[in-house]
Amino acid sequence: DKLDEEKHMKTLYAVIGNPIGHSMSPVMHNDLFSLYHIDASYLPFQVQEDDLQTAVKGLKALGVGGFNLTVPYKSKIIPFLDEVDELAASIGAVNTVVNDGGKLIGYNTDGVGFLRGLNVLMSSLKGKNVLIIGAGGAARAIYFTLAKENPQVIDITNRTITKAESLIEACPYPISSNAYSLDAAEKNLALYDVIIQTTLIGMSPKAFEQPLTLNGMKPGTIVCDIIYNPLETQFLQKARQNGGKTQNGIEMFVFQGALAFEKWTGIFPDVERMRETIFTQLGGQHVNR
Ligand SMILES: NC(=O)c1ccc[n+]([C@@H]2O[C@H](COP(=O)([O-])OP(=O)(O)OC[C@H]3O[C@@H](n4cnc5c(N)ncnc54)[C@H](OP(=O)(O)O)[C@@H]3O)[C@@H](O)[C@H]2O)c1
Repeated sequence: DKLDEEKHMKTLYAVIGNPIGHSMSPVMHNDLFSLYHIDASYLPFQVQEDDLQTAVKGLKALGVGGFNLTVPYKSKIIPFLDEVDELAASIGAVNTVVNDGGKLIGYNTDGVGFLRGLNVLMSSLKGKNVLIIGAGGAARAIYFTLAKENPQVIDITNRTITKAESLIEACPYPISSNAYSLDAAEKNLALYDVIIQTTLIGMSPKAFEQPLTLNGMKPGTIVCDIIYNPLETQFLQKARQNGGKTQNGIEMFVFQGALAFEKWTGIFPDVERMRETIFTQLGGQHVNR
């Protein structure tokens, strides 16, 4: 009968971006669906900006279980959703959508994903001094999320200092923050317990550059780079050589995916297995965790 038919219908999940070919989300989520015996498929869709609204309406009409957004649609999706949760609204970006009985609800799991990854290295940010390098979309999600964790300060350094200043002004949570030029930040690195690299520097075509030299950081500093390809950026390599405890972008990627999976299925998945899936996918080794 009709009920049985519905019960046996495979649920579609998706990621929308442009380009989308290199996304590792499909392999990661499909592996989890099979691990937990969930009858679902996760597919990548490359969508042109002019077609975004039509694509979202189509997914809704098809009864999608949920979907992810990646570059360049994390902000552009917002007008096409029925609801956006508070943190995602403050960040102004959505990376995860849940179809709740025909209502599309947007969340942002990037910042919390980063925090959960950081928690693997340190259980609490209370009283810590944090420096974020970069003031783009990823920095914004991380900054607003970490601001709620009671650190002492979160300073921001960026090539374009006015963007760091605007980010600090936009933060809806009470936090002590200053904006610095890259040169000024470089001179005060010993102040920080945690340094987070969120710029594009370190990724192809800038794989052999780093935003700061890291001369002057103190040994034992936690240094994260949210880039995961390459697994160890030149920046992270330097941090490791200077005695830092380093972490690459795999952790943030895996935890943002785990949090999305939990929103869709109610299951918080096996993150160690997700790491393995990603390492296999990247053809890499365990580096820096
Ligand atoms: N691990 C994960 O799960 C995850 C999730 C999201 C993003 N990411 C990674 O995070 C990175 C940033 O993504 P995003 O979305 O935040 O990008 P975005 O919004 O475009 O921001 C780019 C940032 O990089 C800086 N930048 C770019 N080119 C630079 C250069 N030549 N010199 C100095 N600074 C430069 C920009 O500085 P200006 O303001 O001066 O332009 C800005 O701060 C990407 O590598 C992305 O792959 C990883």
